Amino acid sequence: MSEVVETGVPGDLARHPRTPASDTPVLEVDDLVVEHRDGGTGAVFRAVDQVSLRIAAGESVAVVGESGSGKTTLAMAATGLGPRGQGDVRLLGHSLSAISRTRLRRLRPEVQVVFQDPHGSLDPRQSVRSGLRELRALQPERTSWIGDADLLGRVRLAADLLDRYPHQLSGGQAQRVCIARALLMRPRLIVADEPTSGLDVSVQADVLALLRQIRTTTGAALLMISHDLAVVRSLCDVVHVMYRGRVVEAGPCDRVFGAPENDYTRELLAAMPGARWRSRR
Ligand SMILES: Nc1ncnc2c1ncn2[C@@H]1O[C@H](COP(=O)(O)OP(=O)(O)OP(=O)(O)O)[C@@H](O)[C@H]1O
Ligand SMILES: [Mg+2]
Repeated sequence: MSEVVETGVPGDLARHPRTPASDTPVLEVDDLVVEHRDGGTGAVFRAVDQVSLRIAAGESVAVVGESGSGKTTLAMAATGLGPRGQGDVRLLGHSLSAISRTRLRRLRPEVQVVFQDPHGSLDPRQSVRSGLRELRALQPERTSWIGDADLLGRVRLAADLLDRYPHQLSGGQAQRVCIARALLMRPRLIVADEPTSGLDVSVQADVLALLRQIRTTTGAALLMISHDLAVVRSLCDVVHVMYRGRVVEAGPCDRVFGAPENDYTRELLAAMPGARWRSRR
């Protein structure tokens, strides 16, 4: 029952080892094309079509668009976790097309992904503690900065959850565990793919607040994938709007939400309740 452990932000700020500042963008994507084969017709189509984006160190960038617009495919290709496609992707300055396996393995911890379905991301056979132990064994030096109980405290979970298995966690608790596992690696980039859309509405705001706090305390950049513009607006500096594999509009959230230039962006905004998007400035 003791899910919430209050961790004051100032204390966290003081104790968290911040990601070193760097001029190198954490992610640069140029003219990325990723093709999939349609399961029904067998035809090849472009799920991501000539997309370019850039995320500076510490920046928070969103990709929005309707279901099937290519957001996840883009994120997976851009982080080297899915089909890479054509075009240039540079992660922390390293081109994925030229990088060695060893170097890529070393870069992996720098990018952590939080998925929509937290239970699907956790091994059902492992308790929270043994899952963390496994991560620590993979990256002993990188993960030694914090103990298990303190780590759970960072995501506002009580230490008694360490001995639970995923099926014994609520959706919100499981997502916090996923975020804790990401945090343990001290990543420079956190990719959050619809991190709250699988959660009960009552815990969505808490998880978003947590992500916002993590951004502030760790200095990690964020690539936020969402179809929820309210979420994007509350967390991100820059937004890319995807439609059928293409980025149809991109820019600072205030500009794109305040004065959208593209018809599809206007449609997306119109589908949101209220006119608050247009009146923020
Ligand atoms: N492995 C795959 N094989 C074939 N087609 C795929 C594959 N993965 C995705 N697709 C198709 O590619 C398109 C883009 O999918 P993607 O998952 O990137 O969209 P999305 O914007 O993340 O959608 P959602 O908001 O529903 O998560 C869709 O038409 C999808 O059906
Ligand atoms: Mg998706």
